[in-house]
Amino acid sequence: MYHHFGDESVLSLCEVPTPQPASGQVQVRVHMASLNPVDFKLRSGMLRLVGRPKRPAITGKDFAGEITALGANVQGYAIGQRVFGSVDPLGGEGSCAQFVALSTDLIATIPRALSDEVAASLPVASGTALQALADIAQLQRGQSVLITGASGAVGSSAVQLARAIGARITGVCSTANIAYVRSIGADRVIDYKTDNWQNCGDRFDVIFDAAASATFSSSRRCLKGGGIYINTMPSGALYLAALVARLSSRQRCVPFLLKTNAELLGRLATLTADGVIAPRISEIVDLGQVAAAQRRMEDGKVSGKICVRVNP
Ligand SMILES: NC(=O)c1ccc[n+]([C@@H]2O[C@H](COP(=O)([O-])OP(=O)(O)OC[C@H]3O[C@@H](n4cnc5c(N)ncnc54)[C@H](OP(=O)(O)O)[C@@H]3O)[C@@H](O)[C@H]2O)c1
Repeated sequence: MYHHFGDESVLSLCEVPTPQPASGQVQVRVHMASLNPVDFKLRSGMLRLVGRPKRPAITGKDFAGEITALGANVQGYAIGQRVFGSVDPLGGEGSCAQFVALSTDLIATIPRALSDEVAASLPVASGTALQALADIAQLQRGQSVLITGASGAVGSSAVQLARAIGARITGVCSTANIAYVRSIGADRVIDYKTDNWQNCGDRFDVIFDAAASATFSSSRRCLKGGGIYINTMPSGALYLAALVARLSSRQRCVPFLLKTNAELLGRLATLTADGVIAPRISEIVDLGQVAAAQRRMEDGKVSGKICVRVNP
């Protein structure tokens, strides 16, 4: 956890009271957590103007574990049940901890076939891919989609979902990951180290800028007339671009912010158990190695998810 914003050196292992479930909440013994870029962005203070994140804060959002206590008015869950989910990113709670307590709106049951590391890898990254492509873009069979960050946690889930939908997929990643992005279903891969995808000459129904590598204005020439551009890093400029686009064209610009909910998690669980999504897990570390792992993520040295073993 951390008491002040800063680099990974502000993280330390601490003893805190075990969180108790309020009404509508469950207490979960965490078996496995997973890390996301939002964890180091919150820790560094980069998001301090967005929703005023609480401190002190426990790092980590995603987890898989088992229910150890039920608050009042909880239905449909029992002690001992395996669940996964994601804690509120701004509330100071975190998944790199032995226990979390959270609303049943933020959890779902883990299908028997899924391991803890797979379930813990899903909520933020694969949830973003599913909400962006299926719910917002409503990507259809035969449509064309360009996905940046296609080798990363969000982008690789997006490629796998787009393949299941039957879309024509162009992925963007670095040289070392081209073979992987092809292997999960991209029809074409653009290497951002040597080429600028905005000069590819094609126009897409959907551009999912999972790496937030571009702007809406520079992407428009690659978007069809009624196409949609989704960017995972909302900013004032992006919201303004979205407003102007809405008033002046058929193209849409969407600043994306994940809204986790039990229904989305349930769909993720089913898609993963059915083999549609296979999260790319690069390593599993212990709680004491989280600071170093966040440093590697910040430096762009990680391909896919880092999981954190908590209560094996
Ligand atoms: N707004 C939200 O609600 C929300 C939710 C989830 C995630 N996000 C954000 O989405 C981003 C991606 O998350 P993630 O978990 O997928 O991170 P990640 O696993 O670190 O993946 C980042 C990917 O971006 C690729 N990349 C880097 N520079 C690029 C460029 N110039 N063009 C194209 N691709 C490039 C990297 O490719 P190589 O490894 O091949 O170099 C890597 O695959 C993060 O910024 C995260 O904070 C936002």
